[in-house]
Amino acid sequence: MAFFILSSIFIAVLTFLLHAIYNRRQKLKLRAKIGLDGPEPHWFLGNLKDIIDRTTLMGYNNAHDWHLEMRKKYGDRYAIFFGQKLDIFLCNEDDIKEVFIKNFSNFSDRGVIEIFRETKLNASLLQNTYATGWKHTRSAIAPIFATGKMKAMHETINSKIETFLEILKEKSESGEKWDIYDDFQGLTLDVIGKCAFAIDSNCQRDRNDVFYVEARKFFHNIDLRHSPLVSTSVMIPELMWLWKFLYKFTGLASAELPLVDGLDDVYERRRGGEGSDSVDLLKLLLDREDDKTKGMTKQEVIENCFAFLLAGYETTSTAMTYCSYLLSKYPEVQQKLNEEIEETKRTKQGGLNYDSIHQMKYLDAVYKETLRYYPPVIHFISRTCLNDITINGQFYPEGCAVTVQANTVHRNETNWENPDEFNPDRFLDTNEDRSSTTQLKWIPFGVGPRYCVGMRFAEMEFKTTIAKLIEKFELSIIKGEPDLIPDCNGVIMRPKDPVRLNLKLRK
Ligand code: HEM
Repeated sequence: MAFFILSSIFIAVLTFLLHAIYNRRQKLKLRAKIGLDGPEPHWFLGNLKDIIDRTTLMGYNNAHDWHLEMRKKYGDRYAIFFGQKLDIFLCNEDDIKEVFIKNFSNFSDRGVIEIFRETKLNASLLQNTYATGWKHTRSAIAPIFATGKMKAMHETINSKIETFLEILKEKSESGEKWDIYDDFQGLTLDVIGKCAFAIDSNCQRDRNDVFYVEARKFFHNIDLRHSPLVSTSVMIPELMWLWKFLYKFTGLASAELPLVDGLDDVYERRRGGEGSDSVDLLKLLLDREDDKTKGMTKQEVIENCFAFLLAGYETTSTAMTYCSYLLSKYPEVQQKLNEEIEETKRTKQGGLNYDSIHQMKYLDAVYKETLRYYPPVIHFISRTCLNDITINGQFYPEGCAVTVQANTVHRNETNWENPDEFNPDRFLDTNEDRSSTTQLKWIPFGVGPRYCVGMRFAEMEFKTTIAKLIEKFELSIIKGEPDLIPDCNGVIMRPKDPVRLNLKLRK
């Protein structure tokens, strides 16, 4: 009897393995079949093998260099296997326009790693699909980021920036070296905590602040290098039921719970009338909830506010860190920006306020060039092909992912003159390249109808912070400190090591 049971198990496992191996081999033939090239895939890991080989741990370090190399080697269309899944990368403007804009109905959904479907984000813009109501959610959310609303929220953000500057002053006077990236992260967490979670945290000053600790725990766990289960689920999708079951016991699951519960609590208090005079994203969403045609359910409101934390915290802090570093490295650019700030203070009533900051042309050029030079989000402009389709002679099979890497577009010499040079002047009125932001050559916020909904919020926070930072301090590189190296945690390209700068109070 025991022999019979054991041999049945053995035969079942063997059949499963042979079937899985056969399936993999078949899937790995797809790229050649559709006439695309790319790095040779490993029979079991696909090109995850290349990703692993480039890192000491599982993750995507050097992803941007790797893609620049691939573009040079395979051309403007190439493909890799993310595990078994075919991921087609596009670098050419015409292909990007056809797929992401003209054929949006066939590419409306973002490709989401299957196990992330277990997170509390499925009803949010980050993960919802056309079939599950993306269009409805997007049209309910987009108006809360309109210019008028951003202006109203400016004051809230300003007070957080004041705290940030005070902290920098204290640190610069202490004479010690410190990591300015950490302070930018404290600032953007404080801002998004206030604007999306309606929490008045003390996270800039107190690293034991509950919101700070919980949010950081969540971000630590969402980094693929700290989540072996996520990587394993990509490598062995055949056992997805098992990975989904195990997900409940991961650090990621336990880290998101208190944050979502906190939002639930604030939601109920707001519904009960508390905080009716505050101006924040939650309030704006709740107001829309009262509008019958745009109504969002409680789950949608909570999951979208949670998504704002996810999408708005590391992205903006990383962008501002890159900007501070670049301004330190290029003092002539910083000098020009400071002159514009002084000029604005002298000539505009109210000095540096929402309106005057948004009229500053050189600041705008610095903002755009920073995001061109170092786009913080490099693995998220991605869509799933819903049905087989041929575009510009290229066949896209149902189920494949199609991705655009901002970096390969931004560092492409056919799009930009001297793409590896940091030069904000290329965005000034007098220069013809300025129009490139309206074409598909400048895409730090994505492409087509599904571009970043928080773009205006990010722009306001970035420009206000950088203008006030440069108004107060002269930044410079500390002699002997290593150059900044961008590193990638799966989605965000951020500085690998602490960013230490000299800050000198201006007179
Ligand atoms: C410098 C800062 C930021 C950068 C570089 C950035 C970049 C991006 C990118 C590349 C996408 C994907 C777009 C696509 O697939 O075409 C995205 C989507 C998104 N971002 Fe941002 N983002 C930033 C800040 C923010 C902020 C502050 C918020 C909210 C407060 C936000 C909320 C979102 C949301 C909700 C989506 C999903 C939109 C949808 O699928 O409809 N982002 N962002």
